[in-house]
Amino acid sequence: MSVDAELSALLTETRRFPPSPDFSAKANAQPEIYQRAGVDRLAFWADEASRLDWAQPWEAVLEWKPPFAKWFVGGMLNVAVNCVDRHVAAGNGDRIAYHWIGEPEGDERDISYAALKDLVCRAANALTELGVHKGDRVAIYMPMIPETVVAMLACARLGAPHTVVFGGFSSEALKNRIIDCDARVVITADGGYRRGTAMALKPAVDEAIAELADVRSVLVVRRTGQDVGWTDTRDIWWHDLVDRQSPEHPAEPHDSEHPLYVMYTSGTTAKPKGILHTTGGYLTQAATTHRLVFDIKPESDVFWTAADIGWVTGHSYIVYGPLANGTTSVMYEGTPDAGGRDRWWQIVERQKVSVLYTAPTTIRTFMKWGEDLPAAHDLSSLRLLGSVGEPINPEAWMWYRKNIGGGRCPVVDTWWQTETGGIMITPLPGITATKPGSAMTPFPGIGADVVDNAGEPVANGGGGYLVLTEPWPGMLRGIWGDEERYRQTYWSRFDGMYFAGDGAKKDENGDLWLLGRIDDVMNVSGHRISTTEVESALVSHPAVAEAAVVGASDATTGQGIVAFVTVKGNVAGDPESGERLIAELREHVATEIGKIARPRQILLTPDLPKTRSGKIMRRLLRDVAEHRDLGDVTTLADPTVVNMIDEQMKHQPSTEES
Ligand code: PRX
Repeated sequence: MSVDAELSALLTETRRFPPSPDFSAKANAQPEIYQRAGVDRLAFWADEASRLDWAQPWEAVLEWKPPFAKWFVGGMLNVAVNCVDRHVAAGNGDRIAYHWIGEPEGDERDISYAALKDLVCRAANALTELGVHKGDRVAIYMPMIPETVVAMLACARLGAPHTVVFGGFSSEALKNRIIDCDARVVITADGGYRRGTAMALKPAVDEAIAELADVRSVLVVRRTGQDVGWTDTRDIWWHDLVDRQSPEHPAEPHDSEHPLYVMYTSGTTAKPKGILHTTGGYLTQAATTHRLVFDIKPESDVFWTAADIGWVTGHSYIVYGPLANGTTSVMYEGTPDAGGRDRWWQIVERQKVSVLYTAPTTIRTFMKWGEDLPAAHDLSSLRLLGSVGEPINPEAWMWYRKNIGGGRCPVVDTWWQTETGGIMITPLPGITATKPGSAMTPFPGIGADVVDNAGEPVANGGGGYLVLTEPWPGMLRGIWGDEERYRQTYWSRFDGMYFAGDGAKKDENGDLWLLGRIDDVMNVSGHRISTTEVESALVSHPAVAEAAVVGASDATTGQGIVAFVTVKGNVAGDPESGERLIAELREHVATEIGKIARPRQILLTPDLPKTRSGKIMRRLLRDVAEHRDLGDVTTLADPTVVNMIDEQMKHQPSTEES
């Protein structure tokens, strides 16, 4: 071993937390699981699928015609029945499915599995009355309230694929998603609570569908009581329609490959992709990973995924995984600082949360707020912590383990994507040792590797591209309406392997470290945003001639959006009108995409650095945005441009995200 390798092995070794014997003794996963899944991974997944209730058994576990997979071929099941009815039938109707906590203090509801069944059946009957049939798409644009889960499950029950659009997206983004999947019904709310105020949602729906004659019904939950515009022929209150329905609804089983939902996510082009997930395989992976990665004991655990249902993390680990396992979850509507910066710790203490799953951005925010806040609360109910959405830096990992987990809770860093449907790379608590910053190892039955440019696996100690080497149950089945784009995006870079878009390295022990995206996708606070999407939003403003967007590293949010913009003619003029234009452009992006995509900083520049063939050199702009020395500029058509931008950058403060 070279001195370097020895040193790095030593460093890794000292920062390694072996599983505690106490945890291991009671853990759901036992060490033989890796061996068992390694010997016959299809048998492993079949055993896992058998934990669900199937109305008709499958004939084959997997049919693989690369890059198209079918799992549990010929099997029939109903997702809503698996998530709700069967727990009631098993005598667990009184168990709480959700401790729901609204943002305004004291605004809370506990919903048992029996109550959830009642609500889902009523909502399924209501959707049927609105003319929703199996196969029809339903758009859901909601705050974090129980009706959001009810709406999703009602769709699943009917076999009507839902597309949940995050409430932070603009009407324009909502409109594009509704058009892309041709949704005819939208479920929304008057608004929701966020950062201490009632924000509106219904106006964005009205705007989005103003010209979409095919959208025939809008079902509206009253959450805040604020005034809303109303179109009598189209809009209907949830309480008027759903409450009067029967709480009985006979559920039809659906084919294992029947579409369950479409979730839009950003890629490297301006148009978001509708990622399609289907029924049997998706539910199997969501349930299995939830049970084993979070070591779920449904009788005693209180599980909390602190994410929004509008993202895949919410789909798999607030809704489908936890419910399939009959788990009690906390669901919280608001921001971490609503009602005090210790709001989360109040919730953990009062609800006796045992497993907490969140994103590194939030952990880093808590670090900034100080360790006194969690220290003032009894967090002894916690026994396991999870992280997801972006690379977690070792400092944040250690802080989380010490200050939230009291040094006793295993921390599982879980890597996955909207496309994978469920967790793919993760330690298993009680079995796998953990290392701060490493997602460690593929989940049993999952094939993942790090390869070089030629698609050859790298040796331990090497870095390269993360690929998935075998089809997996929760894998996307395609991009809605665009088969070719599916092939191109994921399966064309390396022969026979799924290319995730992430860089990764293997350490000396072969454990995996995720390094972030290597394409033009940014990760801002765990949200995936495409540079091209923001650029095209910017150039759609009449004053903008050209725009280049980069993700610059940010101590809290992981990456921040920095835009370099050239304007038409002399629109910017004096500094004051320049500032006005910058403010206008930030709002313009918020309108086109949503507030999450509003650039942290916009620099108005007379020109952009381009190669002699006219290609914008984003790499240099990233150096500028991250205040690094500029590398090789000799390939530029005009090297003075980038030096000038660099100078300008040094003098313009960045705008804090509001
Ligand atoms: O870059 C990886 C990063 O988030 C991307 C997927 O984003 P999205 O589809 O929005 O799903 C987020 C929640 C599953 C990945 O390509 N990512 C996710 N988890 C991790 C991560 N990067 C490093 N470590 C993780 N644990």
